[in-house]
Amino acid sequence: MAVSLEGQVALVTGAGRGLGRAYAIDLAKHGAKVVVNDYGGSVSGDGTGDESPAQQVVNEIKAAGGDAIANPGDVGSYEDTYQMVKQAMDTWGRLDAVVCNAGILRDLTIHNMSENDWDLVLRTHLKQCYNLAHHSWPVFRQQSYGRFVMATSTSGLIGNFGQGNYGAAKAGMYGLMNVLKLEGEKYNINVNLISPGAATRMTNNLGGAQQQDAEERAQVMAPEHVAPAVTYLASPQCQESGVCVNASGGHYSRIAIVRNDGVSFDPHGFKDADWIEANWGAITDLSAPKIPWSFRETRDEHYAAKAKA
Ligand SMILES: NC(=O)c1ccc[n+]([C@@H]2O[C@H](COP(=O)([O-])OP(=O)(O)OC[C@H]3O[C@@H](n4cnc5c(N)ncnc54)[C@H](O)[C@@H]3O)[C@@H](O)[C@H]2O)c1
Repeated sequence: MAVSLEGQVALVTGAGRGLGRAYAIDLAKHGAKVVVNDYGGSVSGDGTGDESPAQQVVNEIKAAGGDAIANPGDVGSYEDTYQMVKQAMDTWGRLDAVVCNAGILRDLTIHNMSENDWDLVLRTHLKQCYNLAHHSWPVFRQQSYGRFVMATSTSGLIGNFGQGNYGAAKAGMYGLMNVLKLEGEKYNINVNLISPGAATRMTNNLGGAQQQDAEERAQVMAPEHVAPAVTYLASPQCQESGVCVNASGGHYSRIAIVRNDGVSFDPHGFKDADWIEANWGAITDLSAPKIPWSFRETRDEHYAAKAKA
């Protein structure tokens, strides 16, 4: 079935530039009316309050025949995020998809990282997701429908030097997804992650990027390579929840937390550290990984049971 958000409403944060802009435009192309949020700050989150990036994207969407409205709020603010959801409801009477994309960087090694650099990055990335889930959930539950997509990063899921604050916030989204996929399931609310890689102002000044030909990089690492994955995750056609999709110039893949069967023993007796050492290979062996759905089931078991029900 063709992917379509016809008649639906989407909210994309940080959509005035870069990846968020590409998401908003692609969602509009697939029929969604879009709340384009952006507070217009620098990569480090300074100099906010410029409403023109969000408005420009609204103008682009309208010029292409779509419908959109701008929102200048701060995603770290509980009140501003409430207004984002309210704006969608007041304007169009529904909200079907939320893409938590807005983000900043304050890269420093841990001993150089101030408390403010830690707090602001966690607030912008991770608290954004709490704020928007908290405010959109009542709407989603009432509609018995919702799609919630968060922008994570390999910086947290894998690791990247000098990004303790950013990596912790991004990996925190994986934990939030694991919980919200359970809380949302009964209400047809799917929660997924996008782990993007793209040429934007956030990445264009990084060491590796500067060694690439700028024109070539703009093409092969265009945000438009990531947008189709977000549109799919935000659409009714996507029936999966709890998946992290990695999308970056010419490549789509999946990143997951897996576990093995491990080693069992009779807990009426105790094992010691020597036993751990002796069994380390079997305890940590990942040759037959399984993706958990909950404490009780693997993801495969859960979806098989769901298909039978
Ligand atoms: N570009 C990449 O390769 C890459 C890789 C991994 C993850 N990401 C993530 O993707 C998202 C988009 O990044 P990008 O590369 O497009 O960056 P970008 O700087 O081009 O765009 C981010 C946008 O978010 C807005 N924003 C920041 N804080 C905000 C706030 N508090 N409230 C409202 N708007 C705010 C900014 O004004 C900006 O327009 C970010 O969450 C980023 O961490 C990007």
